[in-house]
Amino acid sequence: MVTKKKTKKPRRVYIFDTTLRDGEQSPGASMTPEEKIKVAEQLERLNVDIIEAGFPAASPGEIEAIQMISKKVKKPVIAGLARMRKGDIDAACEALKFAKKKKIHVFLATSPIHRKYKLKMEKAEILDTVTKMITYAANYFDDIEYSPEDATRTERDFLAEVVKTAIAAGATAINIPDTVGYTLPEEFGTLIAYLVEKNPSLGKKVVLSVHCHNDLGLASANSLSAILNGANQVECTVNGIGERAGNASLEEVVMTLKTRQQVYHADTMINVGEIMKSSKIVSNMTGITVQPNKAVVGRNAFSHEAGIHQDGILKKRQTYEIMDPKDIGLTETRLVMGKHSGRHAFKTQLVRLGFDLNDQQVEKAFAAFKVLADRKKNIYDEDIEAIVQDQIAQSLSAWHLEYLKVNVETDKPPMAVIRIKKDSEERTSQSSGDGPVDACYKAIEKVTGVKAKLVDYSIHSVTSGKDALGEVSVKVAHGANEYSGRGASTDVIEASVKAYLVAINKILVKK
Ligand code: KIV
Ligand code: ZN
Repeated sequence: MVTKKKTKKPRRVYIFDTTLRDGEQSPGASMTPEEKIKVAEQLERLNVDIIEAGFPAASPGEIEAIQMISKKVKKPVIAGLARMRKGDIDAACEALKFAKKKKIHVFLATSPIHRKYKLKMEKAEILDTVTKMITYAANYFDDIEYSPEDATRTERDFLAEVVKTAIAAGATAINIPDTVGYTLPEEFGTLIAYLVEKNPSLGKKVVLSVHCHNDLGLASANSLSAILNGANQVECTVNGIGERAGNASLEEVVMTLKTRQQVYHADTMINVGEIMKSSKIVSNMTGITVQPNKAVVGRNAFSHEAGIHQDGILKKRQTYEIMDPKDIGLTETRLVMGKHSGRHAFKTQLVRLGFDLNDQQVEKAFAAFKVLADRKKNIYDEDIEAIVQDQIAQSLSAWHLEYLKVNVETDKPPMAVIRIKKDSEERTSQSSGDGPVDACYKAIEKVTGVKAKLVDYSIHSVTSGKDALGEVSVKVAHGANEYSGRGASTDVIEASVKAYLVAINKILVKK
């Protein structure tokens, strides 16, 4: 008799995405509410289970942004972060009042160093606050997650006690954060197993989550080790952005579980075909470029330079590739169009590339495509993506560039004339500068009245060739905050102006 071997269903791992909260805490990554909505809509398409949309107590603007996200995005649970204070919990309540499915994420540090220097609280006070604040939050929320901040530097027995106290008070999820990115995979796995042993409902009735930072480059490895030891939720961000060196990267965790399923016997519900697009949208909205060698989503992640590798790939892709780039939505660079291509063909390409634009956005993108096609012979997928992302960035900005003229003569300082427009209001200004970009930026400062410090400027070509589209990313400092912007054009001065204006608009929104 032939018996069919039973294959065990992989264990479900929930993805708690914190791109809009911890990710937004990366220096220069702050987003406008409209940009946050764009990211949230993409996270919904990516099919994350939970979106941590922000920290409501941070500002009334943050509350408003979370409310806007809650009205637009209905499938995932929307979470808000709160300290263990009544005011923070009330702010989360207000921020999440329109969410179809809502969750509060409360945190209180537990490690000796945080207790002594930051909180000035004894262990007993921590336990008491955890009970009181979870009980208070339970008046408004059915779903309550508690994070003992700096868990990995907390005494193990005390950590287990705090976790037990939180569960007894009504926490439905316990998140173990490696706040400072200190732990190691084996050590973290052992800690998770210990907590499960002490609190057997973890990973079963009570969700057991982990939240790892990347200070030693181990965030994804630590999260995966936790999964092997009983965790059933990972907090992560697209592109691994986040405080300092970032958080565990969503695409790394998800693709490791998929690629090494036989080791983990666990999987997520992530729509992996949306990974590449999510990476691009997050990079565009935050202004944080993805390092070329970044695992899964970096520009070089699937390019093969060595002759032996190229030869192997041509004979059989799997010789040097452990994942199929198509699975994560990476389309091959294809020569798509030129200046004779029409609106219909352009729309077809937009759909193929996964863009869902309304008629007005299509018209704007098409107009930009025609301008580009006049300057550049061959238009590739990357060009169309850059055009659309540029259009989105510009359309979310109040002031945009109407006219630009730059005069550069040997032995004379360059002179820039700039006209910008917001609704029906137009303003013009001119300035000289140390170089053409400096002259433009001074003119923008004059015309917007915003003085900012340029802290980072980078330029890269979207494709190869002299006629390639140039993409400029800037980071500017204003007060205590940093703001980013990005712009694309075949004229790098124009791209520089667009990028700077996007950043200046963010300052104006914040003001
Ligand atoms: O890193 C951390 O500890 C956090 C908590 C708020 C979970 O971000
Ligand atoms: Zn964090």
